[in-house]
Amino acid sequence: MSLKQHVPWTQSPLIINAPMGGHAGGDLAIAVTRAGGLGQIGAVYDMNELASHLAKVEQSLPRHDDLLPVGVGLLPFVLKLDEALPVLERYRPAVVWLFAAKELEDYAVCAERIRSVTPMSQIWIQVGSVAAAVSIAELCKPDVMCVQGIDAGGHGFEKGAGIISLLPEVADALTVAGHGGIPLVASGGITDGRGAAAAFALGAQGVVMGTRFLSAPETQLHPAYRKAILAARDGGQNTVRAKLFDELRGPNIWPLPYDGRSIVTESYTEHAGGAGIEEIRRLHAEGLKAEDGGYGLDGKGRTAMWAGTGVGLVKREQPAAEIVEEVRRQVVEMLDKARSRL
Ligand SMILES: Cc1cc2nc3c(=O)[nH]c(=O)nc-3n(C[C@H](O)[C@H](O)[C@H](O)COP(=O)(O)O)c2cc1C
Repeated sequence: MSLKQHVPWTQSPLIINAPMGGHAGGDLAIAVTRAGGLGQIGAVYDMNELASHLAKVEQSLPRHDDLLPVGVGLLPFVLKLDEALPVLERYRPAVVWLFAAKELEDYAVCAERIRSVTPMSQIWIQVGSVAAAVSIAELCKPDVMCVQGIDAGGHGFEKGAGIISLLPEVADALTVAGHGGIPLVASGGITDGRGAAAAFALGAQGVVMGTRFLSAPETQLHPAYRKAILAARDGGQNTVRAKLFDELRGPNIWPLPYDGRSIVTESYTEHAGGAGIEEIRRLHAEGLKAEDGGYGLDGKGRTAMWAGTGVGLVKREQPAAEIVEEVRRQVVEMLDKARSRL
């Protein structure tokens, strides 16, 4: 079954919101799906919370082929499958998106058990390297892979490449390994129609945006975090990948290959300048109690503000539906313009 057949309510080119844990809830997923994209909900630990987001979706959107027209993002390295499976069985989302497993084999275990309770839901897996893409294809034959480039906001492989080189190499390697039929979507630094058009030119069948959707009021975000996103410019200079962001609240629980990209904060700058982790944690805990919740502007924040290198292109608050429609329109315009320049 082609990607488009499985998400029949979507319009082409396919725009997807990243399942940002704690930020992408039912409201965002409903708005994105209603606008003809694939709306997704990000879950972390709390499966009751996921169930309440899905209940909202069920009340708001008609099912397609018995599936709820949204995706659910799960993080296998913290996931309690026994708690997640009844929720997935009850709501049957069109897509279950997996990202960040301790061992690549864990994706296969998750995929098999999810398929056993909701066989029609597709398994999408986000990957950050050629080797991981080929191994995951062999281990669990995902229905779709999301190729995540190093520019991505939030977590990803510490060592990586931008989607310009990563996506075509993943596509070639999958073809050589006999998995060329797996559709690819792209993520990481895609923020407007120009980046999205580039991703389609690279071979993607859809684009996933996280940082851009942080500007949408439907996304759950502390107002000071959103303010910092809208103020930030020059993402290569003012965002940074580091493991420190996962050490601010205590020991880092993420699997070894991962770190995360955040807006540069005072915690990061001071730690890079030699301040010890205990002192950084103390100041972070104090920062959380401040009015801005530690989400400061101009490098003054204390806590992580996950954002991709495209953050400088996100300048104003904008409803999610408008983002989906605008980027969809721009992709076609940009590809036409590019053709006229050849
Ligand atoms: C605030 C934020 C939270 C995120 N949380 C998750 C998550 O819970 N699960 C996940 O699979 N990806 C998560 N991601 C990563 C996205 O899946 C995606 O790779 C990324 O947003 C793409 O890059 P972009 O932010 O430049 O668009 C998150 C990204 C951001 C910005």
